Amino acid sequence: MRITTVGCGYLGAVYAASMASIGHEVLGLDVDQKKIDNLAAGIPPFHEPGFDELLREALDTGRLTFSTDYSLAADYEAHVICVGTPQQVDSARADLTYVHAAVDSLIPHLQDHHVVLGRSTVPVGTADSLVQRLRDAGVQAPLAWNPEFLREGFAIEDTLRPDRIVYGLPEDPAEAARAREVLDGMYATMLEADTPLVVGNYATAELVKVSANSFLATKISFINAVAEVCEATGADVSVIAEAIGLDDRIGPKFLRAGIGFGGGCLPKDIRAFMARAGELGVTEALAFLREVDHVNNRRRDHVVNMTRKALGGSFTDKRIAVLGAAFKPNSDDTRQSPALYIASKLSGRGADVVVTDPAANSRVHAERPNLAVAEDAYAAATGADVVLLLTEWDEFKQLDPVKLREVVGTPHMIDGRNVLDPAQWREAGWTYQSMGRP
Ligand code: UGA
Repeated sequence: MRITTVGCGYLGAVYAASMASIGHEVLGLDVDQKKIDNLAAGIPPFHEPGFDELLREALDTGRLTFSTDYSLAADYEAHVICVGTPQQVDSARADLTYVHAAVDSLIPHLQDHHVVLGRSTVPVGTADSLVQRLRDAGVQAPLAWNPEFLREGFAIEDTLRPDRIVYGLPEDPAEAARAREVLDGMYATMLEADTPLVVGNYATAELVKVSANSFLATKISFINAVAEVCEATGADVSVIAEAIGLDDRIGPKFLRAGIGFGGGCLPKDIRAFMARAGELGVTEALAFLREVDHVNNRRRDHVVNMTRKALGGSFTDKRIAVLGAAFKPNSDDTRQSPALYIASKLSGRGADVVVTDPAANSRVHAERPNLAVAEDAYAAATGADVVLLLTEWDEFKQLDPVKLREVVGTPHMIDGRNVLDPAQWREAGWTYQSMGRP
């Protein structure tokens, strides 16, 4: 198939290289010349395990190209909208500016046998409005919705071996048949490997994505709420998570208590979902998501309070080492990162904060100049009055408490991700605190 991806950010770039790797001819389009030049030269604009090799291999086949020239889209058949839908600056709603711009820049180059596919996470009703936009411009090409479910850190795996593929098809039978023909061709490799295919209308496909992310966010906030109760009772949330996770109706995943969820997806998706429910007159249906958001934010503030107490009530002249800045390990993404939120809050209260992250150091340096950045955990912890582990990178999980103790000022560890062994750290002379564990 001949496919364009419109938008070469995280989603689009990984999708473009992945689809080229399974034999399609793919053109990645973006308005950002520097990004396009880098991708064309095999330089990934973000940290994603395995993406460097995948990108280079796909470029070497000659099937993957990148450009800022949207007129090239005329020679391709399927156009996949992969742009971001961030939270609006002044509201909880999703900002659809990039989606509209992507469609508008495709319009002059679309032909009726082309198919436009939406992959971005959008409020329900967006596909209908995009069809209207296409028809108003005289374009008859069908549109289908095909949400993505990739996790950062596992983006290639999730693109090439997804848990499921979802098609949101148009109502018109002829348009639906054409869209389905193109989608089936694009995903032939996955469908032959028996990947489950779920088919619905536009609204259903749009809602599948936000429902999935809302459920995941709810699961995390649920266990974090239980962690709060554990802190009031002396119970151990990780043992509770293990025990309830053994019930296969509940399952063990996404029950890791800690400082909560961040990133470019879960926080903004639950807010956009609530905002859309309000517009649709069903505010109460999703009122629980407000509490999910509150629990999540409370965990971050809880760590700030724990740190203040650990420092004897004042941040003045205190040095705090923060291990981790990315919103999760194996990523350099700091959007809505709980770790960075906490580091910034502590710095704002007057502490001398030193952050280190295996992948996000340069991003922190560029975006948060008030935070000092150290090369590794030992450099960050040197002379520290308290150490906070806030992103569970393997190198932090494997830290040697005896060696780290030699460099710190005060051996006090706050483990925001519950990944260190309390007994081992306490034996090595540390005051060890974690989230919802005695
Ligand atoms: C999330 C979803 O997991 C993907 O399925 C979805 O496709 C993606 O959003 C998206 O909408 O594009 P991602 O944002 O990459 O993926 O990250 P997750 O792995 O979901 O982690 C989100 C946050 O939850 C992280 O900050 C992580 O530390 C936190 N988390 C996760 C917990 O605090 N506890 C857990 O048990 C699991």
